[in-house]
Amino acid sequence: MPQIFVTQQDGRQLTLEVPSGRRLMEALRDGGTTVEGTCGGACSCGSCHVYVDDAWLARLTEVETDEREMIEAIGDVIEVRPTSRLACQIQMSDALDGLTLTIAEAI
Ligand code: FES
Repeated sequence: MPQIFVTQQDGRQLTLEVPSGRRLMEALRDGGTTVEGTCGGACSCGSCHVYVDDAWLARLTEVETDEREMIEAIGDVIEVRPTSRLACQIQMSDALDGLTLTIAEAI
């Protein structure tokens, strides 16, 4: 099963096994991280904001308009980076085995 490597805001690291097809937000939310996924993955809360490791960014699906607008909106209150993504918009696949990310500050 694919694994992801997560750094939390407090610096703690953990490894999660995430089945292909599962939304990354759900894996983080259920995996003991601070990700809440408040909107259930509707791309409307920003609580699943993560910074994807540079090496993995190009392997993800492109940012759609809804996600881009939500990231721009949360950028008014927390740090947004070029590597910012919303985990609810990332679907796990075998190709993402080893994905490395940092969970952003909670909003
Ligand atoms: S869970 Fe709300 S934006 Fe991702």
